[in-house]
Amino acid sequence: MKNISIAIDGPAAAGKSTIAKRVANALHYTYVDTGAMYRAATWLALQHDVDLTNDEEIVRLLERSGLELRPSESGQRVIVHGEDVSEAIRSERVTNAVSRVATLPNVRRYLGELQRALGQRGGIVMDGRDIGTSVLPHAELKIFMTASVEERAERRYLENKKRGIETSLSDLKREIEKRDKMDMERAISPLTEASDAVRIDTTGRTIDEVASEIERLANEKVSR
Ligand code: C5P
Repeated sequence: MKNISIAIDGPAAAGKSTIAKRVANALHYTYVDTGAMYRAATWLALQHDVDLTNDEEIVRLLERSGLELRPSESGQRVIVHGEDVSEAIRSERVTNAVSRVATLPNVRRYLGELQRALGQRGGIVMDGRDIGTSVLPHAELKIFMTASVEERAERRYLENKKRGIETSLSDLKREIEKRDKMDMERAISPLTEASDAVRIDTTGRTIDEVASEIERLANEKVSR
């Protein structure tokens, strides 16, 4: 059977990673969370006190970091210098800084190449902001996933609560809107919908519903 590539893009907290993981499991494909890579770059810069505009130095940190996305029972783990930083890269500090690091041309080039290499053989579900437009422009299936900002903030709020983090709903909404604006307005590979993407609005829909819809679309492509 043909192994296709599936690109899932969209604004922050639209449900991309939860759904991408489900789809990848159902199809026995590899899941790649590219946001985690930009988060790891940001974490490294903060950790080493490197200015968040210092493109070259952040690439040097990445080159020496042995950055690895490792599949595990509990989902994809992010490894840097042999250490599991999967939780650390979700901190508020990293979240508030990541969209600035994601504007840097050399960082984007470096991570984009890693992502392209991972996507080369197909059998992949990759989520991010520029996967269908820039990283895997030939992906057989492209999804642009959206949801109202209210619902996205509410989902993040519940997710944080489960992890024992108290955040106000209005702060979350502000953070999401700010990050979306930066991601849409940056000069290099901004967040935009690919012309051949299928748009899915997940507002008021369950994870199961959306995952099944994408699996159906994928199966159509595979059997074609
Ligand atoms: O997906 P997640 O919310 O973890 O992504 C964190 C940030 O990484 C995004 O807000 C964006 O600035 C950046 N990003 C990107 N390109 C991607 C994936 C993420 O610029 N393909």
